[in-house]
Amino acid sequence: MTVEAGLRIVEHDAQGIDTAFREDVLAGLSQRHKAVPARWFYDETGSQLFEDITGLPVYYPTRAETEILERHGADFAAAIGPGRAVVEFGSGSSAKTPLVLRAIQPAAYVPIDISGDFLRQSAATLAAGFPGLPVYPVEADFTKPVALPSEVADMPKLGFFPGSTIGNLVPPSAVDLLRSMRRTLGAKDHGGTMLLIGMDRLKDEATLLAAYDDPAGVTAAFNLNLLDRINRELDGDVPREAFRHLALWNDALGRIEMHLAAQRDLSFTIAGKTFAMASGETIHTENSHKYDLRSAAMLLLAAGWTPRAWHTDSAERFYVALAEATEPRTAP
Ligand code: AVJ
Repeated sequence: MTVEAGLRIVEHDAQGIDTAFREDVLAGLSQRHKAVPARWFYDETGSQLFEDITGLPVYYPTRAETEILERHGADFAAAIGPGRAVVEFGSGSSAKTPLVLRAIQPAAYVPIDISGDFLRQSAATLAAGFPGLPVYPVEADFTKPVALPSEVADMPKLGFFPGSTIGNLVPPSAVDLLRSMRRTLGAKDHGGTMLLIGMDRLKDEATLLAAYDDPAGVTAAFNLNLLDRINRELDGDVPREAFRHLALWNDALGRIEMHLAAQRDLSFTIAGKTFAMASGETIHTENSHKYDLRSAAMLLLAAGWTPRAWHTDSAERFYVALAEATEPRTAP
C-alpha cells in the first residue's frame, strides 16, 4: 500500500476557523436571496450523510453511473489506454474509482477532496485494493486550480469527475471549473489529456423530486447538517429545529434546488454577525443541474473539452462522457 503524505492547502486563521467557510457563509447570508455554496455540506458528518444518500433506492444517479462504468470498462481501456495518472476531483469515498482503475491500468491515482480526514481514509482503503499503484491524496478545494504532486508531473492524465458534481454549478461557473481542470491536468503539455465525467440527465419531475426528498429524511439531514456545521465551526446559534428541508424543480433553469426554509420569523448570530429571516424565507443551499445531450456537450466544448464518447445506462437516466482537451478553434 502506498499512500503518500497529503498536501494540505486549506487555510485557517488563528482561531482555527476555516476562513473561506466563514467568508462564504457571511457573504452568502448577507445577500437578498440567502445562499451558501453547496461545497460546505461536506464536513465529516456531511460526507457520511452523502454516502448514505447514494445508498437510497430513490437516489438513482449512483446506481445509473455505476452501471455505465461497469459496462464500458473495455471501451474505456481502448479509448484511454494504460499509464495515466488518474486525477479525481471531489473523490469523497472513491467508491466508483475501482471500476475505472481496474479497466485502464493507470500509473498513479490522485484523489482531490476538501474533506481531509475522509479523503485520507478513502485513499488508504482504495490503495489497499491496488497494491503497487501509487496514491497521492491532495486535500484541496478543486474549484480552484490545484498543484498536482510532482511525482505525476510527467504522466499523461485522465481527469475523473463522476457523480454529476458539475451539476452543482451554474453554467458560467461550470465552464470555469472545467477550464480550471484542464489547467490542473496540464492540457498544454500533454496531448491527449482526457476527462471522464458524469452528468445527470433531464427526466420527469417526479423522479427528480423523489431523489432529493427521500422518505427516510436522509437528504433532509444532509441539508440541515449545514446549520450544525455553521453553529459548531463559526460560533453560531442558528435554530436548526426552526428550519425545514425543501427540494424543488426549477424548470426554467433545468435544475433541482435545495433550500433550508425558515418555519417562523427568526434571527441568529454567526461569527458575531446577526441575521434575520421571515417565516417562509429560505437559504438556498444547492443546485443540481440536469442536462440533455446538447446542453451537456455545450458545457464541455465551452471549456475546451471535445466529447469523444457518450455512454448512458439502460434506463437512460445518466451520462458518462469521455472528452479530450482540444486546442481552441480560431474560427468564429
Ligand atoms: C454530489 C452534487 C452530485 O446533486 O445529486 C445529493 C449532491 N444533494 N442529494 C447531487 C446531493 C442532495 C449530489 N452531488
